[in-house]
Amino acid sequence: LVLVVDFGAQYAQLIARRVREARVYSEIVPHSMPVAEMLARQPKAIILSGGPSSVYAEGAPGIDADIFDAQVPVFGMCYGFQLMAQRLGGEVAHTGAREYGRTAVSVTAPGTLLHDLPTAHTVWMSHGDSVAQAPAGFDVLASTTVTPVAAFESLERRMAGVQWHPEVLHTEHGQTVLEHFLHDIAGCRQTWTMLNIVEEQVESIREQVGEGRAICALSGGVDSAVAAAIVQRAIGDRLTCVYVDHGMMRQGETEQVRRDFEEVFDTLDVVDAADQFLDALAGVTDPEQKRKIIGREFIRTFEAAQVRVFGDAQEGETAFLVQGTLYPDVVESGGGAGTSNIKSHHNVGGLPEDLDFELIEPLRTLFKDEVRAVGEQLGLPSTMVWRQPFPGPGLGIRIIGEVTRDRLDILRAADAIAREEMTTAGLDRDIWQMPVVLLADVRSVGVQGDGRTYGHPVVLRPVTSEDAMTADWARLPYEVMEKISTRITNEVPEVNRVALDITSKPPGTIEWE
Ligand code: XMP
Repeated sequence: LVLVVDFGAQYAQLIARRVREARVYSEIVPHSMPVAEMLARQPKAIILSGGPSSVYAEGAPGIDADIFDAQVPVFGMCYGFQLMAQRLGGEVAHTGAREYGRTAVSVTAPGTLLHDLPTAHTVWMSHGDSVAQAPAGFDVLASTTVTPVAAFESLERRMAGVQWHPEVLHTEHGQTVLEHFLHDIAGCRQTWTMLNIVEEQVESIREQVGEGRAICALSGGVDSAVAAAIVQRAIGDRLTCVYVDHGMMRQGETEQVRRDFEEVFDTLDVVDAADQFLDALAGVTDPEQKRKIIGREFIRTFEAAQVRVFGDAQEGETAFLVQGTLYPDVVESGGGAGTSNIKSHHNVGGLPEDLDFELIEPLRTLFKDEVRAVGEQLGLPSTMVWRQPFPGPGLGIRIIGEVTRDRLDILRAADAIAREEMTTAGLDRDIWQMPVVLLADVRSVGVQGDGRTYGHPVVLRPVTSEDAMTADWARLPYEVMEKISTRITNEVPEVNRVALDITSKPPGTIEWE
């Protein structure tokens, strides 16, 4: 285990991912965690992340100097590097000289950390202060025109640091530097592989569940699928997977999910709840209200499934609920290790009073890319592993206006054409997703053949994104857009106009509702 100490910037998650890419398991801890608590976790190394631009800034986060006396290897990056220099008796100069963005660094004495790197290369910097003097016993390895000490190491103390950000893509050889520290200076073993993750999880789920039974709601997305696949390895047919078809899925989707899942799971409980959802949505146009109704109906349907599965549960039997919670959710909600317990007394009508749900969250320590890698390791179909995000409320929030069966049919037909053409053009992995939105209450005049048309517009919303928090509109090739537009207006009689959404997020969101 390597601990990444988070000084409140955006870098900690990226660093933790890079450490894992070096096949060493890592977790993020807040800088406010007492050092004794960090050491109690017996880390093989500690990484101090980037953070505010100056260690002299008012309220700049610090770290207990004890950490440097614990015989644990330490690596500092950017702010962490300066903090290290300062706490170990070096000198950090408040010069006012700054370096931001791409910066040329020159390796003066490579040592172990910068071993085999080109003397001159480009790194990503973002700092105000500079280290003017390395702590006693540390060798200076590199400099820039502004920063005399841009990297240092002490092999004796198994500590090193760099002024730049090795974790970002724009830094050349960043991963190599990190691996030199982890493998060559700290001596971390490379045991974090997808196979090991699966084996460890299977083992611990078996222990947690014993002879118990579990239920999992599959959305069709990759997270719940991988979570369920791991649990199934552990407890076999004592896992029941439930997939709720709310009638607002895309064309062929439920069949695809059924095919994929039946290949992998012994039992799949497909609940056809289209009538229930669409009846509940009749006459509703407000986006938030639509979402609330869909959420409520989903819970109702799932509860009924729980009763079917656990209805014969004995008093005192624990029911387990599988969830695809990911590590970023855990970090962002400030949570740490341990499992949570949902008391479901009041919302699982029909179940014995004392039947609690205990969560199984096999992906709680994983990043999205690791989830996909685990999915491939488990041999899940690639349609499942590489599926683009699709919102839980489905096409219901892509029809602007009331959701009706007719409108769903129109949108499904247009969406299927758009998806087919994107796949044909080989663009599926280049974009994050491309919602097709039906402006159901808008009509415009057109002409087709010899006649006037009065149809609805659809909007294409292709976006690129890394985490859906921000997004940009995707610059699709004109030929692909042309093909999609021609086919939709020819093949879907109710649609006579195709528009393109060229708004980034912010200010727009990805979905229209
Ligand atoms: P927005 O529209 O907020 O979407 O920019 C960000 C990402 O989240 C997806 N999304 C959802 N996913 N349930 C989900 O599982 C939802 O209710 C939901 N709403 C939006 C959206 O598709 C995009 O990838």
